[in-house]
Amino acid sequence: MMAPLLILSLVLFTHLTGYLCKVTTVGDLAVLEGGSVEIPCHYEPQYASYVKYWCQGRDRGLCTSLARSDAPGRPTAEDKVVLFDDPVQQVFTVTMTNMQEADSGWYWCGVEVGGFWSADDAVSLYINVLHGLSVVNRKVRGEEGTSLTVQCLYSQRLRQNEKKWCRSGDWSSCLVTNSDGLNEDQALEIRDDHTKAFNVTFRRLVSTDTGWYWCASGQQQVAVYIQVTQQVAVHITLPATTGPGVIVTSSPEDNQSVHLPPRQIANGAENQRPLWEYSLMACGVLFIVQLLILLPWKIMDRYMKLKKRRTEEELEDRLSDPPFGDDWQNTSIIILKDPSQKMLGF
Ligand SMILES: *[C@@H]1O[C@H](CO)[C@@H](O)[C@H](O)[C@H]1NC(C)=O
Ligand SMILES: *[C@@H]1O[C@H](CO)[C@@H](O)[C@H](O)[C@H]1NC(C)=O
Repeated sequence: MMAPLLILSLVLFTHLTGYLCKVTTVGDLAVLEGGSVEIPCHYEPQYASYVKYWCQGRDRGLCTSLARSDAPGRPTAEDKVVLFDDPVQQVFTVTMTNMQEADSGWYWCGVEVGGFWSADDAVSLYINVLHGLSVVNRKVRGEEGTSLTVQCLYSQRLRQNEKKWCRSGDWSSCLVTNSDGLNEDQALEIRDDHTKAFNVTFRRLVSTDTGWYWCASGQQQVAVYIQVTQQVAVHITLPATTGPGVIVTSSPEDNQSVHLPPRQIANGAENQRPLWEYSLMACGVLFIVQLLILLPWKIMDRYMKLKKRRTEEELEDRLSDPPFGDDWQNTSIIILKDPSQKMLGF
């Protein structure tokens, strides 16, 4: 019983150490369909010469390899996934282009440690490929009298759709692209590159431009807040510009690849593998091992007892036969019943 237990805990321990973060990466990512992502995977210096890989799948052991650092040949422009290892910086970067909604899922940055006793060092992240619109900056500030450009990004499916720029609360205010992907009025210009983005340019900001707007296309829309600051005020009251307005424009959320907190992604929580799951698995294995050892022994025991009882009964029957005297019979029964009573108590 001791030996299997020892081996089991040893295997368990070496596999668990694989989770002690010797490889790290960014948090979960969201990317617009048709767009690309670049993921840095950092590793400890001792892994500099090891093989690095990038694979897809919920389970580390069963994931599908997409790129390896030891793959022969140079990456070409057609490659959807490119892995570049930089042992000096101790980081390998994975670039995935033309992401499709079906590409949503779990991915692993892995270092091939190999061997039976040790698992590879790997870390997972969830990549969510979304259909819709986003903006480079959700809140933009501009100075009165200057021009301002807002860039709205869209997913692949919206390439041929018309694009709109509307003042929130007033759908009649929308400026819509024509078949060339362009349009303009006195104050605004809208220009679509028909690939992944359209720009809206305010020629000359006026203070009444301050407010909420929509980038819209098809059924999708995204809100943008524009704040127009007074030209004079900006230069004279410099300390005032360190207020919330400034912080907002440089917010890390204003980014092309929107970093979502893990909890926000559907079924993200259940896909995390907590440590207790492994202890539970170990307990399960131990239970089965115990069962396998104890079951045959129990059955054997039962069988032996039955056999014993049957011989006793036979003996008893024979003893109760008339040829034997009463005194002798009583004494023998006491002796013989003793072991069977002990058995029942077991
Ligand atoms: C939109 O603006 C960005 C930078 O502001 C520029 O790189 C891009 O070419 C513009 N796109 C169009 C379609 O004008
Ligand atoms: C987006 O993120 C990258 C890296 O995290 C950063 O270099 C870049 O400045 C960010 N862009 C914006 C608009 O915040």
